[in-house]
Amino acid sequence: MAEKIIIDTDPGQDDAVAILLALASPELEVLGITAVAGNVPLTLTQRNARIVCELAGRTDVPVYAGCDAPLKRKLVTAEHVHGKTGLDGPVLPEPTMPLAEGHAVDFIIETLRREAPGTVTLCPLGPLTNVATALQRAPDIAGRIRRIVLMGGAYFEVGNITPTAEFNIYVDPEAAEIVFRSGVPLVVLPLDVTHKALVTGPRNQAFRDLGTPVGKAVAEMTDFFERFDKEKYGSDGAPLHDPCVTAWLLKPGLFTGREINVEIETVSELTLGMTVADWWGITDRPKNALFIGDLDADGFFSLLTERLGRL
Ligand code: BDR
Ligand code: CA
Repeated sequence: MAEKIIIDTDPGQDDAVAILLALASPELEVLGITAVAGNVPLTLTQRNARIVCELAGRTDVPVYAGCDAPLKRKLVTAEHVHGKTGLDGPVLPEPTMPLAEGHAVDFIIETLRREAPGTVTLCPLGPLTNVATALQRAPDIAGRIRRIVLMGGAYFEVGNITPTAEFNIYVDPEAAEIVFRSGVPLVVLPLDVTHKALVTGPRNQAFRDLGTPVGKAVAEMTDFFERFDKEKYGSDGAPLHDPCVTAWLLKPGLFTGREINVEIETVSELTLGMTVADWWGITDRPKNALFIGDLDADGFFSLLTERLGRL
């Protein structure tokens, strides 16, 4: 039976690819997509999520708008990475599918209460505001979530928005703290692994060679998205952060990691949003996450390209 998932997202070119990979995969049933403010403001992330559903021909998947600002802080965005719209690169039509009625947080709570306990996985690809708000408002759902598989944080790579923090955690550290302390089984795909999922020239050409609107759009998204990382890190191409979440669900054997304790820094100005990851088992703090460190990048890209070819 397909694993039921809710994708919580702030598209973002890499979010878009993560969503396309999920929609292309019969092993996953996407119950809904919940948009959150992050890479760009909510008005754009909910729009971009609908653009992606239309690109995939999946206007049956409901898209909900969620929180437009972090729990306690002013929104920090990342247009410097993703462009003004968040989805710069390809020219895609304005979406015509409507937003689903109701708030994303209510959708998350109602879905978890309706579905059998332990059957729904949450897949956050952006700041954790929607998920934390749902957990705060309805603590009973924590015991009903199968697992939370999220992109966020870093240990060896340390940070990308500050010297010590990864963007998704930095934008809403209080929300991240709620999620990391929720007791829900967590799988974390940090920069340590996503910086190894690089779209090199030949990998981008493989998307283009699909010869489909999806293949072309993904190639153009990564073309745009790569200039930032190439300039900053001198890397071979764009890191596909968020698709690591979907790929882990589909083929966890492509990844390796450790069960460790991860705490979130919410106070220090210098290291705000840091994921303090006890990778070396230095403390006896309880393990609360499977923290992924490595992947088979060629296996990841062949899975991704093959699946995108189905759309
Ligand atoms: C994360 O931040 C966003 O810019 C990407 O979409 C990804 O979710 C990487 O730090
Ligand atoms: Ca994202």
